[in-house]
Amino acid sequence: MKHQQNYSLLKHNTFGFSVQCSDFYVYDKKEDLIQLYNEGVFSQKWLPIGGGSNLLILNDLEYNVVQSNIQQIEVIEGGEKNCLVYVGSGVIWDDFVQWSISKNLGGIENLSFIPGMVGASPVQNIGAYGVEAKDVIRRVEVYDTKQNKFYYVEAADCLFEYRGSVFKRDKHLIVVGVIYQLTKEPYYELKLDYGNVREMLKDLSTITLKDVRDVIVNIRKSKLPLPSEIGSAGSFFKNPVISKSEFETLRTTYPDIPFYEVSDGYKIPAAWLISQCGWKGKNIGAAGVYEKQPLILVNRGGAKGEDVLFLMKQIQMSVKCQFSILLNPEVCLIQ
Ligand code: EPU
Repeated sequence: MKHQQNYSLLKHNTFGFSVQCSDFYVYDKKEDLIQLYNEGVFSQKWLPIGGGSNLLILNDLEYNVVQSNIQQIEVIEGGEKNCLVYVGSGVIWDDFVQWSISKNLGGIENLSFIPGMVGASPVQNIGAYGVEAKDVIRRVEVYDTKQNKFYYVEAADCLFEYRGSVFKRDKHLIVVGVIYQLTKEPYYELKLDYGNVREMLKDLSTITLKDVRDVIVNIRKSKLPLPSEIGSAGSFFKNPVISKSEFETLRTTYPDIPFYEVSDGYKIPAAWLISQCGWKGKNIGAAGVYEKQPLILVNRGGAKGEDVLFLMKQIQMSVKCQFSILLNPEVCLIQ
């Protein structure tokens, strides 16, 4: 285990804010968490972080920050069609995706190239191109910082929802590992119906997991800023869901409004709402709205968390005034 004081979080937040925390702990194995418990780390204020790819850190954090370095990918059960794989929370998410493809195991290829660590995948119920982590998660191993014990939470008890779960609400649980159910060839079913994924693969007679990954990686590279080049936290807002009557009212004024019908109403792309309000490519100071995908707020260089927060509020106000829709952030605001 590593412990550092007055530690810079610059490399631990993809917005690239120059902030620090008073104490930074990196644990390599489950037992380290018991040591942290005994040292009183969890009786003070603390924050678990993964790759820092979904955080808006507003200031220096005068408290404990805890990060996993549990590195393990292990097939724990194999059947004819499926297998269960235990993955440590400190594994880089995309390394796990690449591992699954190298073993010809299907299920997470659409989640290629998402930044962050495996530990965040159930917390945030990460999703892209028609697949969500909840589709493949069977069980999550957690450390309960109140009870000082480890246990498994079954998928049905994870309360997965769009970019959320029980782990996002119950702040005393740390994800130490996740059990995924992946599918063997030829039983996996490729999900190609989001956007132009199928169209981009139309010339191939047989489509492999690697082909799907390559297409997704290309789409993501063309739309989303690379964290190494431009600071951002991916989609900043969630796509809002509105009721049928709200939708019908809006459609009379905006006949071209894009939407997806979902179980509880109509999901409207926040990127479209933000574009309509004229924010695409705009900046306020060093905080900006990404020109290729306006759902992404970016650090143009030297921005602080407060600058992005100010821009967030301005966008929320515009969208509220024009569409009577409140955009909620997907990123976690940290102070
Ligand atoms: N759109 C515009 N203008 C733009 C871009 C998009 O109006 O400049 C509208 C279009 O109507 C387009 C729609 O937004 O059809 C959807 O755009 P896109 O497919 O890029 O997806 P998104 O809804 O903006 C969501 C996720 C992404 C995920 C993609 C692909 C959320 C908050 N975001 O974005 O996830 O990669 O779908 O599945 O649900 C993330 O969570 O950080 C993330 C990047």
